[in-house]
Amino acid sequence: MKIYFATGNSGKVEHAQNILSECEVEQLDVETVEPQSGSIEEIALSKVKQVVEKSDLEDSTFLIADDSGLFVDSLNGFPGPLSSPFDSMVGKERLLDLVDPGADAKFRAAIALHVPDGEDRVFTGKVEGEIVEPRGEGGFGYDPLFLPEGNDKTWGEDPEFKDENSHREEALIQLKEFIERKY
Ligand code: IMP
Repeated sequence: MKIYFATGNSGKVEHAQNILSECEVEQLDVETVEPQSGSIEEIALSKVKQVVEKSDLEDSTFLIADDSGLFVDSLNGFPGPLSSPFDSMVGKERLLDLVDPGADAKFRAAIALHVPDGEDRVFTGKVEGEIVEPRGEGGFGYDPLFLPEGNDKTWGEDPEFKDENSHREEALIQLKEFIERKY
């Protein structure tokens, strides 16, 4: 079975291919407009909908799109879906101007799936942890600022641990299990 992944990020496609080993995952680089929403589920669903409407896909097409972010509890989930613009416009370290080290936070990922014969659905993954002063050079984005629960190294210090225990990994496993059950 073939699944298109609507994303500009080939690393995400590779990750999905590793998990969805029974499928062929192909990148589809189509521009989408991200709706203003605090919900990554809503954003991921909107992305698949836009791609289905824009692209000349066959009726039998399976398609996924994702969204993710870092949600700080005491900031009502900010930056959440705004994680990328907050980092590029203000700088991720400035999160520590808003909260003290030790603030509870979680990474969340949502992957929306369009199927040819049913309603679009969304799969999610979450990793709880806390915000700390940046440590480590590995990973990307907010990884150095995030200490996952049960580990004494940030994701920036221990990217291998992160790869196997990430929010995105969990959402992909949910998706894989659904596909195996239904198709
Ligand atoms: P995207 O929606 O997956 O492209 O992620 C949006 C933004 O959230 C990224 O640009 C990062 O700033 C942040 N983010 C999402 N996932 C991660 C992660 O695993 N590590 C660090 N930052 C992340």
